Amino acid sequence: MSNSFIELMKVRRTIYALGDKVSHSQAQLTGLIQEAIRQSPSSFNSQSSRAVILFSDEHHALWDLTKETLRKIVPADAFPQTENKINGSFRAGFGTVLFFEDTAVIKDLQQKFALYADNFPIWSEHATGIAQFAVWSALAQEGIGASLQHYNPLIDDQVHQRWELPASWLLRAQMPFGSIEQPAGDKTFMDDAERFRVFG
Ligand SMILES: Cc1cc2nc3c(=O)[nH]c(=O)nc-3n(C[C@H](O)[C@H](O)[C@H](O)COP(=O)(O)O)c2cc1C
Repeated sequence: MSNSFIELMKVRRTIYALGDKVSHSQAQLTGLIQEAIRQSPSSFNSQSSRAVILFSDEHHALWDLTKETLRKIVPADAFPQTENKINGSFRAGFGTVLFFEDTAVIKDLQQKFALYADNFPIWSEHATGIAQFAVWSALAQEGIGASLQHYNPLIDDQVHQRWELPASWLLRAQMPFGSIEQPAGDKTFMDDAERFRVFG
């Protein structure tokens, strides 16, 4: 059975070779990213996901501060490789989406619905994953490549300071995006028989 959503899913891949040759305007991409997150489900419709969208100098500033943070902890002989990766794969892109979860929303839910208190932080992680996938897929549909990075918690303090974010926003992922300078290679899949069981 052919299904257009599955076909769209296949278009989303991890793209490391990013460029800044994007014809969409910042406003168009902002609208797309916001709508993808808005339409993503969350537990109790709590809408705990937050995002910061960075373009141009602000996007560069994120990757520069990430580089400087890593410079302090990566052995000097390994740092050129780290620097090349950040410059070539992330900073070279057109922008970055920072994904956060608002821990104030989660605390509030824990107080209101004590029975589920242990589950709310887990569901918050699910919500951010869904939001990340939605944005990644929406960008892919526009012909824009992206990857998913996790320099949190190393960069959390600096990100909060530079963009003056609420203390309750917890950084969960960074998604650099841009033009696709080199497509992803073939992807392998494990056997369905190991993965799925169907009854009935
Ligand atoms: C929850 C999650 C965490 C990931 N973390 C990283 C990461 O920190 N760095 C990275 O380069 N890729 C990361 N990836 C990307 C995966 O490596 C990638 O999705 C996977 O290899 C499948 O390739 P595809 O995205 O091209 O389908 C992550 C993906 C997921 C779903």
